[in-house]
Amino acid sequence: MDIIKTDTQILLQNIGVIDPEEISSYIEHDGYGALKKAVQMNPEDVVALMLESELRGRGGSGFPVGMKWKITREHEGEIKYIVCNANDLDPGDYKAKVLVEGNPHNIVEAVILSGYAVGCRIGYINIPMENTLAVSRLKKAIEQAKEHGFLGENILGSGFDFDIYIRVATGVFASGEETALIANLEGKRGEPHHKPPYPSAEGVNGMPTVANNIETIANIPYVILHGADWLKSIGCADNYGTKVFTLSGKIKKTGLVEVPLGTSIREIIYDLCGVAESTVLKGVHIGGAKGSILPLDMLDIPTTYENFKKYELVIGSGGIAVLDDEDCGVELAKNYISFAVQESCGKCTACRIGLKRIEEMLDAICAGKATESDIPKLRELAEIVCDSSLCGLGRNAPHPVLSTIDHFIDDYKNHIKNGACPAVAIKKSKYYKINPDKCIGCTACSRVCPMKCITGTVKNPHTIDIEKCVKCGACFKKCNFGAVEIKRMEVV
Ligand SMILES: Cc1cc2nc3c(=O)[nH]c(=O)nc-3n(C[C@H](O)[C@H](O)[C@H](O)COP(=O)(O)O)c2cc1C
Repeated sequence: MDIIKTDTQILLQNIGVIDPEEISSYIEHDGYGALKKAVQMNPEDVVALMLESELRGRGGSGFPVGMKWKITREHEGEIKYIVCNANDLDPGDYKAKVLVEGNPHNIVEAVILSGYAVGCRIGYINIPMENTLAVSRLKKAIEQAKEHGFLGENILGSGFDFDIYIRVATGVFASGEETALIANLEGKRGEPHHKPPYPSAEGVNGMPTVANNIETIANIPYVILHGADWLKSIGCADNYGTKVFTLSGKIKKTGLVEVPLGTSIREIIYDLCGVAESTVLKGVHIGGAKGSILPLDMLDIPTTYENFKKYELVIGSGGIAVLDDEDCGVELAKNYISFAVQESCGKCTACRIGLKRIEEMLDAICAGKATESDIPKLRELAEIVCDSSLCGLGRNAPHPVLSTIDHFIDDYKNHIKNGACPAVAIKKSKYYKINPDKCIGCTACSRVCPMKCITGTVKNPHTIDIEKCVKCGACFKKCNFGAVEIKRMEVV
């Protein structure tokens, strides 16, 4: 797991530092300190602290955690539940996996704290079955927390009883939506329902439930331990704390990066990840399958909830894919729509049928079988699906189409006119070459090459056999000396 180091790491600071299988290692790093502090307070005061901190949900609309706690606390219910949404099924997203695998006790402590504040007895952590290591580490963490009196009956002598259950879920994207996830927890089909009622009023088994994203939850122990003012010293107005993004694509460093909210996309890409001189950037895709594709002149947008909403950047997964001139806007939009077609639960017609029709229209455009008059029809249909779908899947899935029509219309026109896109030719023209003046013969590139097509001896410049090279870029990313360069053959 690659973590791109920054000066403001909260959630990622202990990943790779503590031993995730040893509770003592977590305790040495202030672990369960927040719980010890919280049980000395009234639950209402813990809620007040969270309200004051203005911590906002990291998984969707940025709804304040303290407000969700307060509303759920005030609803009548025989039993109340906490649900930690540890799904990470958006393409390119693996944040939940890293947070749980690297620091499972942080999540366990956070769920207990939520339960204490809201007055719950039971917490569920919902995690996809593919994340097997995360599941086994969570199980171990729960056992260890029980042995130490942090979980179970009469926690730390406070009279508070709380249990956590792991729910291993099938890896279905649509079931990450909170009402679908709750249905799944109850043993029903993972389909969403209209809101209201919200989970805070009627969640698991019809009882008041707090459902939060894993990144939101992971913040809770830090906020309780260090206080509201501490959180407010990080980030910018109304957007306090940090956000974890998953970076991929045509940048030097890929992986997870944690930055204060408000950091611009440009800073994340250029200052933290780096862009090779030879890379011709085209745009940035933000927010996974439901997100938008933005052109380079929009990179100065600060990462705030208000901007996420304004530019339709569905930021939940925090995925940022950096695109270059080899990437075609239409092909990208088509891939994301095809993903949404497969992942749609099929409950509402707009999403089930509408997305399929959009996919067919994009297929026709890609194959050069459409006309320019089809573009406004495509836009109209995409807008209808956004407006009339039941849940956030259908309401947001057309964003890649709408944003590429807005910002990369030439890609559509090229496909329609020429049946192809220049990006394909550019991709074919690319090759990697090792600059002998920069190569020190460290052999790092030849060791990561999956095709074994890099030759050379230690301390002597290496060479790439371009006939065998599959252009995966592993050597380019691995080289610490900038010796592997991207070259282009002349495109005729
Ligand atoms: C199709 C779809 C998939 C979603 N997947 C996830 C997910 O994997 N993890 C998650 O936390 N929220 C996901 N959400 C958002 C949740 O419905 C919900 O808004 C979020 O968990 C609330 O947490 P927060 O208040 O901490 O942000 C998804 C929403 C939709 C529409």
